[in-house]
Amino acid sequence: MQFLLTLFPLLAAFVAAAPGAAILEDRAATTCGSTSYSAAQVNAASQQACTYYKNNQQANSYPHTYNNYEGFNFRVAGPYQEFPIKSSGLYTGVRSPGADRVIINASCQQAGAITHNGASGNNFVGCSGTS
Ligand SMILES: *[C@@H]1O[C@H](CO)[C@@H](O)[C@H](O)[C@H]1NC(C)=O
Repeated sequence: MQFLLTLFPLLAAFVAAAPGAAILEDRAATTCGSTSYSAAQVNAASQQACTYYKNNQQANSYPHTYNNYEGFNFRVAGPYQEFPIKSSGLYTGVRSPGADRVIINASCQQAGAITHNGASGNNFVGCSGTS
């Protein structure tokens, strides 16, 4: 176990450095409903999403394809993946995904952030900076 805990950051760093993987741009802080996230939290959630995606792994079904039926004007081109962002820390699939999501594209570029808070049914509305 200690070995795995030691190895994981190294693996994550390797994946991040692998050609074509984890090319994330720094993005600004955002507010989803009444929950504010720092740029560091947004970047960390997006990086976690990217690492799972590039490894063909999921945590309790995340990340998964986001089809943008709502028609958000994201910063980068799709196709997109959605992944929970939580103020309590990185999402690992153990607890509820909550309402808030970061969106990355298939090249791990950060597209924006969206939330179920303030949306009807299973729809999303944009967090600040995503419209
Ligand atoms: C991700 O977005 C960037 C910037 O718009 C774009 O150049 C790239 O092709 C996109 N990746 C995919 C796989 O669509």
